[in-house]
Amino acid sequence: METQILNPNTDASAIPLAAKLLQNGGLVVIPTETVYGLAANALDPEAVRNIYIAKGRPGDNPLIVHISSFEEIYPLVKEVPEAAKRLAEKFWPGPLTVILPKSDLVPSVTSGGLDTVAIRMPSHPVAREVIRAAGVPLAAPSANISGFPSPTKVEYAADDMTGRVPLILDGGECAVGVESTVLTLAAGKPRILRPGGITPEMLREVLGEVEVDRAVLDPLGKNETAASPGMKYKHYSPETRVRIYRGSEKGYLRYFERHPAQGQFALCFEETAPLLRVPFVTFGRKDDCLTQTHRLFDALRELDEAGASLALAQCPPPRDVGLAVCNRLFRVAGFDFIDEAPIVGLTGQTGAGKSTVANVFASAGYRVVDTDKLAREIVETGSPVLRRLAEAFGEDILDGNGALIRARLAERAFADAEKTALLNSITHPEILRRTAEAAFSFSERNIPCLLDVPLLFQSGADAICDVTVAVTAPAETRKRRIMERDGISEEAAALRMGAQEPEAYYTARADIIIRNPDGADPGKAALAAAERIKTRYGGIA
Ligand code: TXA
Ligand code: MG
Repeated sequence: METQILNPNTDASAIPLAAKLLQNGGLVVIPTETVYGLAANALDPEAVRNIYIAKGRPGDNPLIVHISSFEEIYPLVKEVPEAAKRLAEKFWPGPLTVILPKSDLVPSVTSGGLDTVAIRMPSHPVAREVIRAAGVPLAAPSANISGFPSPTKVEYAADDMTGRVPLILDGGECAVGVESTVLTLAAGKPRILRPGGITPEMLREVLGEVEVDRAVLDPLGKNETAASPGMKYKHYSPETRVRIYRGSEKGYLRYFERHPAQGQFALCFEETAPLLRVPFVTFGRKDDCLTQTHRLFDALRELDEAGASLALAQCPPPRDVGLAVCNRLFRVAGFDFIDEAPIVGLTGQTGAGKSTVANVFASAGYRVVDTDKLAREIVETGSPVLRRLAEAFGEDILDGNGALIRARLAERAFADAEKTALLNSITHPEILRRTAEAAFSFSERNIPCLLDVPLLFQSGADAICDVTVAVTAPAETRKRRIMERDGISEEAAALRMGAQEPEAYYTARADIIIRNPDGADPGKAALAAAERIKTRYGGIA
């Protein structure tokens, strides 16, 4: 079959030709504000059957019926509830599809054998003109071969549909770039079956309660039936195998370093791209889910064009428009996730209440990495670090069994600043290496962890943390706490505190500050922080 591509903006014959083809039972690819659609007369069973054939689409996956004015809904449904009117007033024309019990006028092939019908009024001027000119409602699924990404540009629609339809209308790039939000009003409470540009929050403003179908973010079990048949198919799959990384940006960068692979690309946010050392395709800025939905399908095609065999994708939190991004991405990836938990660094002044905070994190499921313990382990008898210490500070820092005599090392290493620096240069890199290994190993097993490091910023250990937490308290309070805790004099306590950085040092560096003066409840603030950090995957700042 010859396929013509016409632009109605420059070719006056385009719309009348489309209308004639549609009236005669033919297929026409039309632009909409979401994605390009493969249209046919929704009331002509033979024409609709040809849609399924052209797309290679399973016959039980129903189609959306497109109308150009609100009145056209009445003959298609049993009745029009108040909720539908309010939604139409607010969101039509636009990227919202509403499901209602169908009338007998709608052929069963259009509704995939269901007794409901999905209806939407697109806002793209070409789509509306074609529907008006044809004088019939148009069934139109996305104009891709079934299982491939929905086309957001006329070239992509042409890639898939050339030779299968007589006419493709060029309406430029689709503004929304992701398919419409599908909302059912036919089964109890309003429920979102497919998220899109119209978010749950926007719908709740009009309807009050709105549910999100479980199939939106979770794979269906073997024997479960999908409320929306489209949800059960692996959709939008590009050639490139896509996996989803759920974790922080630092973790994402680290993943590529620790798991290099031939042909592996990053499918990432714009901000992340310059930090990567692997080839990448971007799909919008981190906080801009509207652009992400818009870019996603294009980005998948770009990965294929670049010959990527594997792509590791970042993903936004599943909220607002991010819900639509996650819904599509999860399906693209066939729910193949790499989940990595956050690494939190804890520091603070002596006596401020660091251990209280660490205990709260532990009770919230964090594993605490005790760096003091690691510091002791690296100087165990026979260790390479201990050997180097003996070479630097004298063989007599070891006893007859080769064990470290701590007091003797301390005496020599703290004699002057130069010696202290020498000690640190031998021990710190190894402590840091072990701390990082412990942290990465927890994170990779999706266990959140807390690094308890008194000199977090000074040692550079903050570089491996996704979030840093500092605990501070007024000097007087800390002094009294140290005296009580360690049973020491005011002078001794003051001496210990003298070596500590002031509060401003921590507030300038830490992501989260927990202030713990007398009468404060650090536990509450710590628990809130622990939970917030845990649930915020997809780019912890
Ligand atoms: O933005 C869009 O909606 C685009 C443009 C072309 O309008 N169309 C589109 O159609 O995405 P399609 O066929 O690719 O997706 C329709 C989705 C499918 O997931 C289908 O299962 C669901 O809507 N659907 C249609 N009728 C339904 C019904 N009666 N009950 C439940 N789900 C239905
Ligand atoms: Mg589709």
